[in-house]
Amino acid sequence: MTDFQKMATSGLSLDARVDANKKSQKINFGDWAHNFLSPRLNDDVLEVGCGTGSQTITISRAIGKGGSMTFLDISAESVSKVEAEVMGVTRAKGVVGDMDSLSALIGNSDQNYDLAFSAYAIYYAKFPKEVLQTMTQRLKPNGKLCILGPESPHGFVELARKFHAIPDGVDLSLNFRTSVLESFLKENFGVVQTSIIKNPQYFTNPEDVMNFYRNTTYFVSKSEIEISRYVELEFKKRDIYVLDKYSYASCATERLY
Ligand SMILES: C[S@@+](CC[C@H](N)C(=O)[O-])C[C@H]1O[C@@H](n2cnc3c(N)ncnc32)[C@H](O)[C@@H]1O
Repeated sequence: MTDFQKMATSGLSLDARVDANKKSQKINFGDWAHNFLSPRLNDDVLEVGCGTGSQTITISRAIGKGGSMTFLDISAESVSKVEAEVMGVTRAKGVVGDMDSLSALIGNSDQNYDLAFSAYAIYYAKFPKEVLQTMTQRLKPNGKLCILGPESPHGFVELARKFHAIPDGVDLSLNFRTSVLESFLKENFGVVQTSIIKNPQYFTNPEDVMNFYRNTTYFVSKSEIEISRYVELEFKKRDIYVLDKYSYASCATERLY
C-alpha cells in the first residue's frame, strides 16, 4: 500500500481531517450535503465509501427504523465505528470491502435503493464508472444517485504543491467531476442537478494549518519544516490565512436504461 492509500483509508486520519475541516470552514459541509441528499423517512439508502460516518449517521436518523442503510468501506475499523452509531437507529448493514467489487458485495441481495450515494470516495475505485453503473442499476425506479466531492482549485493542495509533488490520486479526485462523472450522469439519467459551494478554509494560527496538513493524503514528512516556516511567515503578514476550497454535489434522477 502506498502512503497515499494508507492515508486515504485510515479512519483516524479521516476523523482528524473532518474535525479540522469543521474548525476551518464557515459553511458546515455536513449540513449542506444532507440538504442536497435530502433523505426521506423510510428510504432505503446505499452509501459507498462511508468512512467514519459523516453522512451515514445523520441520514440514518432521517430515514428512521422504517428505512434501511447499507454502508460500505474498505476500512473494517471505519465500518465498525459507523455500525456502533447507527444500529438501532435504522435497519443498518455494514459491508467491509473494496468498492471495485460492489456488484459482488451487494449482488446477492434483491434490495434496491431510493438513494445511492458516495461522498469524497468514488474516485478511489480503480474502475469508478463500473461502480457508478452498479449503483445506478440498484436504484428503485424513482431512485436518486448522488456523488459529492472536491472541486478545483484547492488552496491547500496548491500550497503543498509549492513544496513537493502531489500524488496522482489527488489530482484525479479534483478532476473527477468534469472528467468522468458529468458524462456518466448525462448518458444514464434524464435529470442531473449539480451544485457547487465555495467554502474557503480560514485558519487563525499556524498550528491548525500544520495539523490539517499532517492528516491530508498528500502529507510529506520531509517537507513539514519547510512548509511550517512558510506558513509562519504568512501569519506574520496577516491574522487569518485563507485557502480556497470548493465542493460539488451532483444528483441524478430519471434513469434512462
Ligand atoms: C475521504 S473518505 C470519505 C468518507 C466519508 N464518505 C466522508 O464524507 O467523510 C474516503 C473513504 O473511502 C474509503 N475507500 C478508499 N478506497 C476504497 C475502496 N477501494 N473501496 C471502498 N472504500 C474505499 C476510505 O477508507 C475512506 O473511508
